[in-house]
Amino acid sequence: MEAAEKEEISVKDEAVDKNIFRDCNRIAFYRRQKQWLSKKSTYQVLLDSVTTVEDSTRFQIINEASKVPLLAEIYGIEGNIFRLKINEESPLKPRYEVPDVLTSKPSTVRLIPCSGDTGSLILADEKGDLRCHITANPFKVDLVSEEEVVMSINSLGQLYFEHLQILHKQRTAKENEEEASVDTSQENQEDLGLWEEKFGKFVDIKANGPSSVGLDFSLHEFEHLYGIPQHAESHRLKNTRDGDAYRLYNLDVYGYQIYDKMGIYGSVPYLLAHKLGRTIGIFWLNASETLVEINTEPAVEYTLTQMGPVAAKRKVRSRTHVHWMSESGIIDVFLLTGPTPSDVFRQYSHLTGTQAMPPLFSLGYHQCRWNYEDEQDVKAVDAGFDEHDIPYDAMWLDIEHTEGKRYFTWDQKRFPNPKKMQELLRSKKRKLVVISDPHIKIDPDYSVYVKAKDQGFFVRNQEGEDFEGVCWPGLSSYLDFTNPKVRGWYSSLFAFPVYQGSTDILFLWNDMNEPSVFRGPEQTMQKNAIHHGNWEHRELHNIYGFYHQMATAEGLIQRSEGKERPFVLTRSFFAGSQKYGAVWTGDNTAEWSYLKISIPMLLTLSITGISFCGADIGGFIGNPETELLVRWYQAGAYQPFFRGHATMNTKRREPWLFGEEYTRLIREAIRERYGLLPYWYSLFYHAHVASQPVMRPLWVEFPNELKTFDMEDEYMLGSALLVHPVTEPKATIVDVFLPGSNEDTYGHIEGPPGLSGITSLSQDL
Ligand code: NOJ
Repeated sequence: MEAAEKEEISVKDEAVDKNIFRDCNRIAFYRRQKQWLSKKSTYQVLLDSVTTVEDSTRFQIINEASKVPLLAEIYGIEGNIFRLKINEESPLKPRYEVPDVLTSKPSTVRLIPCSGDTGSLILADEKGDLRCHITANPFKVDLVSEEEVVMSINSLGQLYFEHLQILHKQRTAKENEEEASVDTSQENQEDLGLWEEKFGKFVDIKANGPSSVGLDFSLHEFEHLYGIPQHAESHRLKNTRDGDAYRLYNLDVYGYQIYDKMGIYGSVPYLLAHKLGRTIGIFWLNASETLVEINTEPAVEYTLTQMGPVAAKRKVRSRTHVHWMSESGIIDVFLLTGPTPSDVFRQYSHLTGTQAMPPLFSLGYHQCRWNYEDEQDVKAVDAGFDEHDIPYDAMWLDIEHTEGKRYFTWDQKRFPNPKKMQELLRSKKRKLVVISDPHIKIDPDYSVYVKAKDQGFFVRNQEGEDFEGVCWPGLSSYLDFTNPKVRGWYSSLFAFPVYQGSTDILFLWNDMNEPSVFRGPEQTMQKNAIHHGNWEHRELHNIYGFYHQMATAEGLIQRSEGKERPFVLTRSFFAGSQKYGAVWTGDNTAEWSYLKISIPMLLTLSITGISFCGADIGGFIGNPETELLVRWYQAGAYQPFFRGHATMNTKRREPWLFGEEYTRLIREAIRERYGLLPYWYSLFYHAHVASQPVMRPLWVEFPNELKTFDMEDEYMLGSALLVHPVTEPKATIVDVFLPGSNEDTYGHIEGPPGLSGITSLSQDL
């Protein structure tokens, strides 16, 4: 192992150092939005400008202070979806609009303008069930269904749009005069990070200046919100406090803290809200750093005494305000109007696609470790499963299987004969999964590096040279997967003749694709690195991993000439990643609390389209006590992606290493999984064709039972199986809420002493 790596690994042994990562108050666009919003400057619709162009209704909105016109477009989309886009009418240069996430151009339905009162505009779909009521001054949109306002947009006046400007130094005196209303003093500029933002030793130079956007949504009578993964948080979204918004910014956070809103590996900027009788969704299509504030105002009843001798009462319905803020791009938001949870799932997958149908083997048990050392080790572990009569389907190899972390190669000493090793696995109908990260070692003798360099396939720095950052192999460059040509080329590397030593039982694992850059700002890439089309990294940071997995999955499809389904696990993801494979929750810790939080984390992924998800069984970091390991297997057997994994300095923990009694319990848990495999496969088929999540929070299956809305310690697999894992030490009894009856019904489940799963059920009615 090289010295640099050793240093990196030992640094990574400690718990997460939150100082490496920014909180809201250290994010300049957050501070700017807050400062501006405190001035309460409003936007107004210019009703004279309303036109209907092809499939959208367009109009200008203008801010009373800046006077810069924005262009708003409203579309009706098949399946009761509205889309609102807001961009500058004539920006200095195009602003980034996220490509490749929407499955196809969404099929639009005509919205018919109906005359509103003076000062407003009403758009209705043909059936007239759904209407958009636009108030001109101040600009506000109400979404009305069956005479009920479901959602209001900009009712708090938080629409925010920084128009692109010429760099201060390059402006003429006249332009500077015109901008005099904006405080451009040196001190204020630094604080607001308009053209330059400092974080520790890092300086982010912003060639395009400030370009942030934001908007608020008020959800009437909704108090239960879910979604916007990925956070190690509870399933139901919490109210945020100032400076503690949910952050969507893909980051490599080793041993992430739990019950925390900081951004971790992936982002899906999509949330659902649920109340008795209706579920809705908001999909904010933006791939730059994003913050989401949530604030529920409970229902109140006022007594209006000044109304006369008889006191009048006025009820104000409860509502939840959602405030989205992004560093850059445009406002492009989809409003999914439900009304049922299933409808919302269908509406979202109409936009971003459904879960890829996994190959059957990938629903079985996976055995991983950083690292299985060599071919003998693989052979011995594989034999261990047979010897102990434990089924498993895939053996995994982490980064050490390569020649010095050069992906697509094999370490000659440890893995001299990879094909023979795969033949052994194949003879037992098993598979091999190997890792392939997006950083490429800078090495003139490494053909992948040389070819990518020659073709200009790396992300570039400000000087136009290949971006260089440190990761596992040492100094590396990063493939620019946002370029379709790079994706095409990367996919071709999986062809059997190109990927030496690979066979058709070899599948893929994409890691470190946030992307992780050791010693980079927040362990990731500088925001001013340059991608294909001259876009800055800041515009598309959250979608980098999505493209990596897309290119890998495409490679596996191509190598089989379109005949075989791929399997690709990714750590980083974005909206729509479900089309390319599975996601796991990264570097968790071998503690009970991490077992417990795996449930809400997976439920959240599941309802935001990503059904194929899992957490490292046993906890990646540290050594689980045996009881925890067993409980983790028992829980994991009922979670979609089922893989045991552990980091390099942990003790070995193959299922048979803890004595016969524990081996038996783990064997039983894994066998339970296999016993239900046909059910799992059917659920995935249903997710694939009908958009319904495999793992479902109780509120999804029991949308009329208020009590279920907060539950995250039990859930449904499909609509037929209720699961309540044991996540506490020394538990012998579990009380399980039994939904579906109008009473409060609990099952009191008692196991014999020891760690067995469910053995008896008595209901306390
Ligand atoms: C980080 C991943 O999260 C972990 O699962 C993996 O073992 C290491 N990288 C090494 O590849």
